[in-house]
Amino acid sequence: MSAGGRDPLRIAVPKGRVLSGLARLFARAGIDCGDLLADDRRLVRDSGDGRLRFYLLKPDDVPTWVEYGAADLGVSGRDVLMERRYRLYQLVELGIGRCRLVVATRKGAVVPDAPRIATKYRELAAAHFGARGIQAEIVYVQGSVELAPLTGLADAIVDLVETGTTLVENDLEERETIAEISSVLVANPALYKLRLAEARGVVERLRAAVESAGEA
Ligand code: PRP
Repeated sequence: MSAGGRDPLRIAVPKGRVLSGLARLFARAGIDCGDLLADDRRLVRDSGDGRLRFYLLKPDDVPTWVEYGAADLGVSGRDVLMERRYRLYQLVELGIGRCRLVVATRKGAVVPDAPRIATKYRELAAAHFGARGIQAEIVYVQGSVELAPLTGLADAIVDLVETGTTLVENDLEERETIAEISSVLVANPALYKLRLAEARGVVERLRAAVESAGEA
């Protein structure tokens, strides 16, 4: 790797619903992100000026790429950062990907004293119920979590809610909010120092764009 700026700065970004908001944020920050939103299957996309290289990842994998130094910067949901501990700098709250981590059940369901909870957030769910003295059994599932209470797999779920549509369309209701979530710009500590000049330009432009959006 070159510290002289010849190699593009590598940014791990999440595929899926956050990506369009991220591209808009880059545009507001005056940062060229090339064909980041192109509708194809390429997992590597460069900015038009060749300074940035984006790696498209499953959202849960972004911190791993950055922690191991395979990317310099990354955009990760706070849910992922809270669920597992990573050695990363958390640089900027980006104000995109806003959602909530909640407990939800079937509408009007009576939750037993020792409930079974379906979730992919094993640590956060265990900590949430543990802090309330509730002996919850955590059942790990990777997706379609909302199906769990409908089919008897679990009494409740811990999952993300953005618009609320998935809960409504599956006759579920939110019972508690565990955390407010949004996307965070993270950096590999060693690489961030090594490539500080290049990285800081991107970081400060993003920070300014987030702050000006907050004032608007
Ligand atoms: C997430 C989350 C919920 C849904 C909530 O799933 O796990 O299922 O979005 O969004 P809403 O409140 O706007 O309906 P996602 O669509 O990312 O897919 P997944 O089930 O594969 O995790």
